[in-house]
Amino acid sequence: MIRKVCVIGWPITHSRSPLIHNFWIRKYGVENAVYERLAVPPEDFVATLRDLSTWGFIGANITVPHKETAFAALQFHDDVAARLKAVNTVVTTPRGLEGRNTDGYGFIANLRERAPSWRSSRGPAVLIGAGGAARAIAAALESEGVPELRIVNRTHARAEALAADLRLRHARIVDWQEAHTALSGANLLVNTTTLGMKGAGEVELPLEALPSTALVTDIVYTPLETSLLRRARARGLATVDGLGMLLHQAVPGFEAWFGIRPQVTAELRALVLADMGIVEN
Ligand code: ATR
Repeated sequence: MIRKVCVIGWPITHSRSPLIHNFWIRKYGVENAVYERLAVPPEDFVATLRDLSTWGFIGANITVPHKETAFAALQFHDDVAARLKAVNTVVTTPRGLEGRNTDGYGFIANLRERAPSWRSSRGPAVLIGAGGAARAIAAALESEGVPELRIVNRTHARAEALAADLRLRHARIVDWQEAHTALSGANLLVNTTTLGMKGAGEVELPLEALPSTALVTDIVYTPLETSLLRRARARGLATVDGLGMLLHQAVPGFEAWFGIRPQVTAELRALVLADMGIVEN
């Protein structure tokens, strides 16, 4: 029997998940396995998810704009998806289809790989943004034992809602205009907004107030080095780009579907970068 998995989104053309999973399928010699792209508009999403097994799929990744709808439509969830009320990975389990969320895992695994000496417990983390990605990262950082989360978002109410919905125990909301005040003593600065992407604006926050030991990371990976990361590097700070989060978030899904824990390697990173038209030095 062919084990089929897909990524469902709308639009889906630019998803790199097929590239990543089909690379691992080949690399590990997984037989009779295939990973496809499924473009599904919002009005058809719930029916598609319901009929996933009928179509022969043993699992799926869920991406924009379906992550919250997937949570609502599925009966079973793991603890992380239940907390975030958003699903990016669907797995067939003995009780039925289960929704999981591996975005926060991917974020932390990327930091562990690229900045192995960084320790979450050493000081406050500053989060720019309060969207879906920020939620996954905030929950993951709290689970990792970050002593304080300072959330800075253009729309103040959304930052408040994030902290309240996730019942964050050590959150502090900082006004967008006062963002620089969040940096003093911080151990981590994360951009979770679209700022820095080609065509979007930039994170203009001055970085002077960050301690020299702080790590700066961005979930934007096109360009690979955003202006935020470039400014941080120019100041001598350690930086981690966002590509690894994309690669690492795929690991738990692949393991659940095919029974092999895949590795994020330089070869995979180069493959995805080449697909984006980037050659890394
Ligand atoms: P995602 O699910 O990918 O995180 P999202 O839910 O649309 O996407 O969230 C986008 C984030 O980027 C939000 O924090 C948004 O700020 P608002 O809540 O104020 O909308 C932030 N963002 C997007 N464009 C921005 C801009 N030009 N300036 C500041 N923040 C911006």
